[in-house]
Amino acid sequence: MSALLELKNYIAEMVELSAAAAIAYWDARTYMPARGVETRARITGKLSRLAFERLISPKFGELLAAAEKELAEASEAERAMVRMGKRDHERARAIPPDFYQKFVELCTKAESVWEKAKAEANFALFKPYLAEIVDMVREMAKMIGYKEHPYDALLEEYEPGMTTARVGEILGGLREKLVPFLRELLERGTPPPPVPEGKYRKESQKALCAEALRLMGYDFSAGRLDDSAHPFTIGLGPGDTRVTNRYNEEDPFPALFGALHEGGHALYDQGVPAELYWMGLGGGASYGVHESQSRFWENQIGRSLAFWEFFKPKLSRRFRVFARKTPEEIFRMVNKVEPSLIRVEADEVTYNLHICLRFELEVELIAGKLKVEELPERWNAAMKEYLGVVPPDDAKGVLQDVHWSGGSFGYFPSYALGNLYAAQFMEALRADLPDLPENLRKGNTAPVLSWLRERIHRFGRMYFPEELCEKVTGEKLSAEPFLRYLREKYAQVYRL
Ligand code: CO
Repeated sequence: MSALLELKNYIAEMVELSAAAAIAYWDARTYMPARGVETRARITGKLSRLAFERLISPKFGELLAAAEKELAEASEAERAMVRMGKRDHERARAIPPDFYQKFVELCTKAESVWEKAKAEANFALFKPYLAEIVDMVREMAKMIGYKEHPYDALLEEYEPGMTTARVGEILGGLREKLVPFLRELLERGTPPPPVPEGKYRKESQKALCAEALRLMGYDFSAGRLDDSAHPFTIGLGPGDTRVTNRYNEEDPFPALFGALHEGGHALYDQGVPAELYWMGLGGGASYGVHESQSRFWENQIGRSLAFWEFFKPKLSRRFRVFARKTPEEIFRMVNKVEPSLIRVEADEVTYNLHICLRFELEVELIAGKLKVEELPERWNAAMKEYLGVVPPDDAKGVLQDVHWSGGSFGYFPSYALGNLYAAQFMEALRADLPDLPENLRKGNTAPVLSWLRERIHRFGRMYFPEELCEKVTGEKLSAEPFLRYLREKYAQVYRL
């Protein structure tokens, strides 16, 4: 057997184990009875450990080295398999298992302390845990290694190939333009009408969400829509990509846009060829590129006027209160801009400012330039400067996100980069498909999906995000397309 084939078999086995763990995870978040928790933790723990042992095994290293010698005749996908396999193997091996185990235990403890601290709006409670997490994360950055900035080592987990300097340049430039733009909208713009008050039955919302998913091209014969406390998408392998959602009976839009968002993630997973999936190349180019696909459908498509010209009758068929509204009114209603304290509830204009703030604080923490006890004050000052609002307490400020308690430093930028990739991809798509608005008005999204499949989905995780971005758009990632998109759209929404 050739070394490449042997490597392929080895990787497929790791993927099988991860997929089994993912099914157990999905079930735990949807249908598992309350008393199943302990058994499930044992099973998922075992499956994850088996996959991890294979990942760090010297055997994997040997197979990779042997396969590297056969690359001259290998396909592009095989070369990517070796490149990504090496990267994953080396990153996982950089941290000694004992150290990692200690870190996981610390984070498990810290997460429950964080929950309590958030409920009581008491940062002091969480502070010592966060300080310890930051120390260990800084240590891990050293173990992993980096060229310029320790934060590079952390970013790499979520955005392969990205650097702190690049992200700083992109997000810094974005922030400079967003802050005055937001002020202009709020001072000079005409705010959109509010969502009508009423009871929006869950079952009707769910049916509407399924309709939206079908419209996008989500394949229900290769997926499902279920309920969960927090919406998520999970790829369980070729032929099985599931989404979940939640419903607020006072407002039908969070669930609808949640469905479009998760549907966007799911279309990406459904579009990765089975062959790549088993080579460890499923899952998308990066967290940011994955988020670009969800944001693309949620915002670029779902919050456009053309979409509402088609979809408005579907909405008012389920909810009569919208019957006399025009598509333009709905379009404006779902694009309301409001500086708020909570990231997950933020609109398109303010969302990235929440991310800029977190990125700046994380970089300083990891560089050792900012102490954990200074966080609340710095947080509140930045909120005032960027968004003009100040949290009344730390629960609505520095304690709001789960990420730091889980040790996930370097994750936040992916959310903002996702928005930027989405806008840059949309500009390229519009150049290729000039009749896009006309198609959307007719409810024809098929050309959009084919374009995304052809340019992005079919490559899975073969390329680094910036390589993919250049392949798709001819340019490196930049904040300009996103800013152009905001200016054009919100001039219409706010009648500037
Ligand atoms: Co997402």
